[in-house]
Amino acid sequence: MAKVCIIGFGCIGSGTYEILKHNQDIIAARTGESIEVKYIVDIRDFSQHEVAPLVTTDFDKILADDDLDIVVETMGGVGPAYTYTKAALEHGKSVVTSNKELVASKGDELFGIARQNGCKYFYEASVGGGIPIIRPMLTSLNANNITEITGILNGTTNYILTKMIKEGTDFDTAVSNAQKLGYAERDPSADVEGHDTCKKISILSSMALGRKVNYEDVYTQGITAVTSEDTKYAESLGCAIKLIGRFKQAADGAEVLVSPMLVDSSSPLYGVEDVFNAVKVTGDMLGDALFYGKGAGKLATASAVVSDIIEVLKDARDDINAPWLPCSEKIIKDYSHIRGSFLVRIKNEPDAFALALERFDNARTLEFIDGEFAVVTGELSVAELEASLEGLDVISKYMFA
Ligand code: HSE
Repeated sequence: MAKVCIIGFGCIGSGTYEILKHNQDIIAARTGESIEVKYIVDIRDFSQHEVAPLVTTDFDKILADDDLDIVVETMGGVGPAYTYTKAALEHGKSVVTSNKELVASKGDELFGIARQNGCKYFYEASVGGGIPIIRPMLTSLNANNITEITGILNGTTNYILTKMIKEGTDFDTAVSNAQKLGYAERDPSADVEGHDTCKKISILSSMALGRKVNYEDVYTQGITAVTSEDTKYAESLGCAIKLIGRFKQAADGAEVLVSPMLVDSSSPLYGVEDVFNAVKVTGDMLGDALFYGKGAGKLATASAVVSDIIEVLKDARDDINAPWLPCSEKIIKDYSHIRGSFLVRIKNEPDAFALALERFDNARTLEFIDGEFAVVTGELSVAELEASLEGLDVISKYMFA
C-alpha cells in the first residue's frame, strides 16, 4: 500500500483526499496498489472533520517515516511550501504539486534535487487546473519544436469576463462568486491582475525553451481595466476579449506576455467560457493541438494532482531530463519589441482623427461613438505603436491574439 501525506488541506488538498477515497478502487487497479492518506499537515483546526486523526504540524515526523512515498503539496505560495518540498525531495520522497508559483520560481532547482535523490517532482495541476497539458507536452508532443502557446489559463478571470459580458454581472459580484466557487486564489488580485496566468505561461514557456523563463521578465496586464465599451468594440470586430498568456518563437527571439487580447470568432479560444481554460499548442511538426477543460475548482484541479500521484506510483520517467534548466539571463524579448496588430480607442479631440489616419497606414476606422474613434492597426511592435500614438489621447488598446 502506498502512503501519501497532503500538505495544505484547503480546496485542492481536500479535493485530493476526496478523489483518493471516492475512486479508490479504480485508482488501485491502475497503480496496482491502494493508496492511503497517512498524514495531513495543516495548522488549522480540523478536530471536527473525519480527517482529524491524520492531521499534524510535525513535518519532521513525516520526513522520518520510511513508509511514506509521496508528499502532495497543495499549500500554494513559495515560503513554507518551498522548505517542505525541498526537504521531502532531499529525503527521497516524491512531491506532486498544484503550486504554480513554486514551480515557476524554483522548479529548475527542485527538479535537480528530485533527480539527485531518485524521486519525482510532478506539477500537472499547476497549469490549466484539471486539463492535461504538462504531461502531453513532456511526452506526446516531444518530437516537436513548440513554436507557439496561446492559452486562456485562468478560470477566475474567464468566469468573470463571461459573467460581465453575457449576464451583465458587475465586476465585484463576479469576483465574489468566483471565490465562493473555489476558483479564485486566496488573494484574487493574483487572478485579476494576471499574475496567476503569468506563472502558468512562464512554466509552459520554460518547457518549450528548455530553459527557465523568469516570470518577472514577462509583461503582465490583467483584466481590471477592461470596460463594457471595450467588449462592445471587440464584438463589433467579431472578437471576444480574453485574458491570454502567450508564448511565441519569433525570428529574433521568444515573446512571452500576459494581456487581455482580442480573440477572433474563428479561433478555438473564442467560445471558451466560464471557468474553462484552453491552451493551443503549436508544434513545428504537428501544427496546432488544443487542450480544453475546467481550469480551476476543487475536484477538477485535484484530479490532476491525483493523476500525478498515480504517475509516480507507475514510476513514470517524465523527469529523466529536467523539463527546463536554470537560466539567470533574460531569454525573452522586451515587451516593447513584441509585435502584433492592435485595436486602439482614441478620444476624438480636434485633429486627432486626421492625425491617426496619417500615422496608421493600414488603419481602418470604426464607428464614432460618444466622442471617440478607434483604429485597427497592421502589424507593428509595441514600441512603434507607442510612438505612433504620441499626442493622441488613448482610451484603451488591445492586441489581437
Ligand atoms: N485561481 C486559479 C484560476 C486557480 O482561477 O485559474 C487554478 O490555477
